[in-house]
Amino acid sequence: MLTTKEAMEKRRSIRKFKSDPVSPLIIQELLESARMAPSGCNAQPWRFKIVEDNETKEKLAQTAYNQSFIAQAPVVMVCCADISDYIQGTVSGAQDLGKIGALEDRIVKILCNSAEELKELSVEDIAPRIAANVAIAIEHIVLRALDFDLGTCWIRLMDEEKIRNIFGWDKNIYVVALLPIGYPDESPNPRGRRSIDEILLK
Ligand SMILES: Cc1cc2nc3c(=O)[nH]c(=O)nc-3n(C[C@H](O)[C@H](O)[C@H](O)COP(=O)(O)O)c2cc1C
Repeated sequence: MLTTKEAMEKRRSIRKFKSDPVSPLIIQELLESARMAPSGCNAQPWRFKIVEDNETKEKLAQTAYNQSFIAQAPVVMVCCADISDYIQGTVSGAQDLGKIGALEDRIVKILCNSAEELKELSVEDIAPRIAANVAIAIEHIVLRALDFDLGTCWIRLMDEEKIRNIFGWDKNIYVVALLPIGYPDESPNPRGRRSIDEILLK
């Protein structure tokens, strides 16, 4: 089992996969790691669609501007947010946190009011706020996958609406990213990273 630091150092975006299947037990483990992610008010808005059939994987690759390696992965996770559940979850989650004394009543009220205000906003305005929660769950999956020698690649260059159409989802389901998963058939060198000096704001 890798330490968190080892996993972060080992991880690469993988764009070439072996055809070996990924066992359902491992997929369960990856979903378990997603469940453990933190979220605002513990609303847990993440939802995942597991795609293993070739026809749907091909369609997904097309929605991602024909990034064909996506279809070559044995599994593609479509990582989404459920918007209305997020709004309800924020209210009930804030109330729960208030009850156990983790949040002041004043903060619970602010959170509940801001959740109500979200209902008035368009999907385009709400989605980026919710996406932060889903991104954490996705990165849990990405790092946990390394314990099974699996590789992944975040995919954001995709047409969110076309993906919703493939599955017949309405606008309440916001697609945050595609995540192809499989055994790597390449060992990419590490990509460059900015120094600590460069990422500190003055
Ligand atoms: C939010 C996000 C979106 C990304 N979208 C794509 C994508 O659409 N296609 C792709 O090939 N890689 C994509 N990547 C992978 C990045 O190119 C990659 O993380 C970056 O070049 C650093 O390389 P590394 O992940 O191997 O360290 C994405 C990564 C992130 C975090």
